[in-house]
Amino acid sequence: MPEAEVPPTAKPPFERAPRHVAIIMDGNGRWAAARSLPRAEGHRRGVEALRRIIRAASEIGIRFITIFSFSAENWSRPANEVGELMGLLRRFIRNDLAELHRSGVQVRVIGERDGLDPDIGRLLVEAEELTKANDGLTLVVAFNYGSRQEITRAAQRIAEQVAEGSLKPADIGMETLGAFLDAPDIPDPDLIIRTSGEQRLSNFLLWQSAYSELVFVPTYWPDFDRAALEAAIREYQQRERRFGGLVAKTGS
Ligand code: IPE
Ligand code: IPE
Ligand code: MG
Repeated sequence: MPEAEVPPTAKPPFERAPRHVAIIMDGNGRWAAARSLPRAEGHRRGVEALRRIIRAASEIGIRFITIFSFSAENWSRPANEVGELMGLLRRFIRNDLAELHRSGVQVRVIGERDGLDPDIGRLLVEAEELTKANDGLTLVVAFNYGSRQEITRAAQRIAEQVAEGSLKPADIGMETLGAFLDAPDIPDPDLIIRTSGEQRLSNFLLWQSAYSELVFVPTYWPDFDRAALEAAIREYQQRERRFGGLVAKTGS
């Protein structure tokens, strides 16, 4: 058959899509400032970008996507901005949970639950409970998340087990610590993308990113779209992942 007549393939466009992509969704405020809009408008447009990227990730064949939506350090922002961000999370779960569930998305949440408004805590539990049997894309929402805090909580729980005598210090290995983190069953991210031009992790997945490929893009988060995601994945696919050895291992 001549090439032009080859029927469109049902295969996703990426043969070697990273299994787990984590995203630091940054630049909402600067997106708004560049348009003389309030920062809150940047955050609202950021939620629209998130919806697009969740859909695109499913279609591309990514299995896990982690999004950094509110950091443990973001409480230091002005109260009205913190309130706006909390309101957006509430609205996102209330408006989008049914649709995420219909599309087979499994929602997971990492981060500290203590100290959140009780209604937000309930919404997070509801999202996890409703979608826990879904086998499509896993969406990990990092909310009130800080990686050092997560590792510290893990260390405290390990210390409690040692104190009760159910764990011996000599038996604590890397896997033990990993097993006490917030989502121990989720594989480490293959690719971490940060938007907005900043080149730092800002206390995101420090343990889990030991061998992640990092891609920093100048785009502000509200402008990030499927094409930008695909470009980041293509960059990931050019990288040689050696994991300390001499031979490149295929990404996933
Ligand atoms: C990311 O955008 C959203 C959150 C951190 C919650 P920012 O609000 O950090 O936007 P910039 O960095 O000020 O542009
Ligand atoms: C990281 O962005 C947190 C989120 C994207 C939720 P920040 O904008 O808070 O990070 P810094 O302060 O510039 O490092
Ligand atoms: Mg920022």
